[in-house]
Amino acid sequence: MKIGIVGLGYVGLPLAMEFAEAGCQVIGLDVDSQRVAALREGRSHVEDVPDERVSAVLSACEFTTRSVELHEADAILICVPTPLTPNREPDLQPLLAAARAVAAVLRRGQTILLESTTFPGTTRDHLVPLLEESGLSAGTDFAVAFSPERVDPGRVDYTIRNTPKVVGGLTPACTECAALVYELVCERVVRVSTPEVAELAKLLENIFRSVNIALVNELAIVADRMDIDIREVVEAAATKPFGFMRFDPGPGMGGHCLPVDPFYLTWKAREYDLSTEFIELAGKVNARMPYFCLERIERCLNDQARALRDSRVLLVGVSYKPGVGDLREAPALKLLRLLEERGAQVSYHDPYVGALPGHGLRSADLETALEETDLAVIVTAHPDVDHERVVERAPAVLDLRGVTRAFHREHVARL
Ligand SMILES: NC(=O)c1ccc[n+]([C@@H]2O[C@H](COP(=O)([O-])OP(=O)(O)OC[C@H]3O[C@@H](n4cnc5c(N)ncnc54)[C@H](O)[C@@H]3O)[C@@H](O)[C@H]2O)c1
Repeated sequence: MKIGIVGLGYVGLPLAMEFAEAGCQVIGLDVDSQRVAALREGRSHVEDVPDERVSAVLSACEFTTRSVELHEADAILICVPTPLTPNREPDLQPLLAAARAVAAVLRRGQTILLESTTFPGTTRDHLVPLLEESGLSAGTDFAVAFSPERVDPGRVDYTIRNTPKVVGGLTPACTECAALVYELVCERVVRVSTPEVAELAKLLENIFRSVNIALVNELAIVADRMDIDIREVVEAAATKPFGFMRFDPGPGMGGHCLPVDPFYLTWKAREYDLSTEFIELAGKVNARMPYFCLERIERCLNDQARALRDSRVLLVGVSYKPGVGDLREAPALKLLRLLEERGAQVSYHDPYVGALPGHGLRSADLETALEETDLAVIVTAHPDVDHERVVERAPAVLDLRGVTRAFHREHVARL
């Protein structure tokens, strides 16, 4: 099979690798010519995909900026971004541009698969009409389905291969065409009746996480006021073998998906005179967390008879999650901005993030930085940072991730 992939980012590139490794010919299309040029030389821009993996399949992959190459593909997977506009409304521009590019090369017998997270109805009401401008009919001349990506960057136990893949076609035959494609690289394909079911299932997964993170974050604020250790509470609750799923508090929600995707549904629900209260509330609570963490920082400095202004604050870990360098929507960036606005002297250490050019900062050597700081704040707990050392060397520590519980000392405060 020849597989076309439109958009070679966090989602598209790993998929391209899987299909190439499964013996398919892959045509990878991206509008970013630098990315394409690097990939042609075997260089990856996605952390989860090492250069060697790209080099090993180069002969099976054609990376290009020319959409005309997609004409040859049996199936085309669209994996372009679905961001929000500055007014927090869905921005379908990349998706519509990709759809137009595919429509221009569409031929009978192809299967078109949308992977980008989006609101219910996107496949049927936005993608299909553009594809049909080719003069061909969806469901008869070519197959269309929505299949949400479930990649979790940095994760090694669940991969494309062993994570079940939900597929909803425009017709039952479309679903079967889509399943045939995914069965090349996924052990289990879950068929659903429509693209809308698959679209909303993906949003449910993301909203579920966002709401539960907000719930435990709100409880963390309450527990702090009551002087109860929220992490001990979570651990105790998590011993219940049924009816409870563990979520841990933190400085806010980051990454591309959770802070953005739920609002695709909020926007769509308005068309039906509905407001999505849980989504809005979760967004509000999670957005408040960096402000709460700022207040905790001020309290820690206050305990040392220091004001925030001119105090030296070291942020340990700034990416949005452990083990990756992804900064998208990272709460550390919000915290950094708030600290700078209030006159703190901020430095950071993150083995995955060499520099924060917008702030004129480079990742500091941990030992030196610990010696030169008034307060170390563990914002993201990377696996290869020695947090025990942070506790030993820093004059005061605020642990927002609960990683210092095993070696608690008087000068350590925790969220
Ligand atoms: N990153 C994740 O963890 C994740 C997980 C599940 C779902 N998703 C969803 O998958 C989709 C893609 O996300 P991502 O993280 O891979 O984005 P990304 O920004 O990493 O990559 C998208 C790529 O698409 C390219 N692109 C943009 N417009 C294009 C066009 N018209 N034609 C060809 N290429 C184009 C960009 O240059 C970029 O290389 C989004 O809808 C996202 O919500 C992401």
